Amino acid sequence: MVLGLVALALVAAACAPNATQSALEPKGPYAQKSFDLFVPVFWVAVAIFVIVEGVLVLFVFRYRHRRNQSPRIPAQVHGNTRLEIAWTILPTLILAGVAVPTIATIWDLAAKPTGDVLEVNVLAHQWWWEFDYPGEQILTANELHIPTGRPVYLTLCAVGFGYGTPPSNGGPPAPNACQTGPPDSQPPASIGGAVIHSFWVPELAGTQDVVPSLTNHLTIQADEPGVYRGQCKEFCGLSHAYMRFRVVAQTPDDFARWVAEQQAPASPDVSGPAAAGKEIFQQTCTACHAVAGLESANGQPAIANGAPNLTHLMSRECFRGCTLETNDENLARWIADPRSVEAGSFMPDYGLTSEQVDQVVAFLNTLE
Ligand code: CUA
Repeated sequence: MVLGLVALALVAAACAPNATQSALEPKGPYAQKSFDLFVPVFWVAVAIFVIVEGVLVLFVFRYRHRRNQSPRIPAQVHGNTRLEIAWTILPTLILAGVAVPTIATIWDLAAKPTGDVLEVNVLAHQWWWEFDYPGEQILTANELHIPTGRPVYLTLCAVGFGYGTPPSNGGPPAPNACQTGPPDSQPPASIGGAVIHSFWVPELAGTQDVVPSLTNHLTIQADEPGVYRGQCKEFCGLSHAYMRFRVVAQTPDDFARWVAEQQAPASPDVSGPAAAGKEIFQQTCTACHAVAGLESANGQPAIANGAPNLTHLMSRECFRGCTLETNDENLARWIADPRSVEAGSFMPDYGLTSEQVDQVVAFLNTLE
């Protein structure tokens, strides 16, 4: 009884109104196609379940053991050709009937959309998502902005050690389909392993695995502006649960404005604690993070080395695989002791004093 109530409470909690990650509430045409396939297949399964279980229960009841009575033996049908043929053909017909819309939907969803399509490369890192807009020359992390009413064709790659390794015959590394820039450029250095991830925004599309040395695709589209929550759906290491992301769908005008803002370099004018923070950032953080227009301590342009590009960090509502809201308190906590926030973190603890941490946070605040 108590266990039943606890189970009921847990089930009810899963239906909380703010838990919006539901494939049963499609918010775009691609999620709708999966849903439209799910509904009839579900009811076919329900009908079969009810019939099979109903007959099972009926027979268990009818031919149950009764005390002081000789057992009732049902009529034996072994070797009945008609019945054998019937229960072979019927399931075949049901499965064939389900297969027709299933295969049609698979082909439909796999087709590359035509017309006015936005292309975005999705790079799955341990344990965060990088979004690269090759046409717009924008790089962002954990927040994928898309315009409403327009198909977004994603190219998904897993990155990390073991990816882009030159083959043993000494030839060039395998090109990364998600890597933009000159075709002969080296694949970006990576932190963490190249492992299998899975990209899932339940309200916008089904799941798609992200597999090292394979290039997969997925099309998503949102009808209405809004924030759609996504997450990695394949166990990919210690911090798999921290690998979330958000899809921010905006009207075409708002999206164009966002693109223009992202294309602008970070402001070079910093003063006060932010200037001190900028110096610390250039000496330590640029080993992994890049900010457009910022040089590292040795005068080289900072190139992202397997960690998120922070050029417009403050324009993102979340960071750290979208598990932390972007605010001073969280940034300071994260910089001061990354492993206390995320056990598997690849971000090193540079042992900064709390004053230095505050200075770095002040600098990050200028990255709007
Ligand atoms: Cu990436 Cu789980």
